[in-house]
Amino acid sequence: DMPVAVSLLNSYSGIAAASTGFVLENNMLIIAGALVGASGLILTNIMCKGMNRSLMNVLLGGWENAGTVTGPSEAAKNVQIKSVDAEELAMLFDAAQNVIVIPGYGMAVAQAQHAIRDLSNVLEKKGVRVRFAVHPVAGRMPGHMNVLLAEANVPYDKLYAMEDINDDFSNTDIALIIGANDVVNPAARSNPQSPIYGMPILNADYAKTVVINKRSLNVGYAGIDNELFGYPNALMYFGDAKEAMNKLANELKNL
Ligand code: TAP
Repeated sequence: DMPVAVSLLNSYSGIAAASTGFVLENNMLIIAGALVGASGLILTNIMCKGMNRSLMNVLLGGWENAGTVTGPSEAAKNVQIKSVDAEELAMLFDAAQNVIVIPGYGMAVAQAQHAIRDLSNVLEKKGVRVRFAVHPVAGRMPGHMNVLLAEANVPYDKLYAMEDINDDFSNTDIALIIGANDVVNPAARSNPQSPIYGMPILNADYAKTVVINKRSLNVGYAGIDNELFGYPNALMYFGDAKEAMNKLANELKNL
């Protein structure tokens, strides 16, 4: 929750600067301070809304298991999951017409953004429409996914904010989740007991097929299981994101 605290403190520095501007009768200081103060408060608000938590909850409390990386619960281990390898997936992608990629914290850990860009180039050469859906709190800091994808030269017009793409998942052949977990957890919609209940999520589960790439069934930041892994339309593609995307791109090139 540190980014929220940093953003709030940053906004206070702007408010302090603006106040100093009033004392010194310096208009530049007032304007600059007001801009820093307002933008910090807006960013703080966006992040809290993205997690569906109040500012007080973020500053004083938090999710019980937040930030602790643990394995799946016993119940989650018993869920029937379908796992696929790169070769099988390549055939699936070869037949797809449109794909939405959902990057998450795991992409950042694996530094897989370049491999994902290469994969999207291969797919586009085959005539597949590829778009990227970016959740406001995917990763661990504001704009985390946008910065990494921009670094890998993914065109900005292929990046879509959650509210702009969420209705399109039901018309999508494949939602490819790469190292994301909490931001696609349907419990946020359906389970009032879940700590993330009410948090807006990307509707990846509405796609015809959901491919989830991560290394295991381990939980994400919120420390909770993800029922999506056991959905009938879900396929687990286990492995480090960078290696897995490279393998998939190579298999696709060979088809
Ligand atoms: P998470 O829910 O944290 O899940 C990340 C997943 O990435 C993990 O389940 C992990 O599974 C996988 N992973 C880790 N290393 C990997 C690798 N090398 N290759 C492939 N997968 C890998 O991520 P998210 O969906 O992006 O959600 C972000 C979470 O952070 C939210 O709960 C959000 O509220 C919170 N948060 C966000 C921010 C901001 S501002 N973005 C700030 C604070 C907190 P495996 O271990 O099984 O691989």
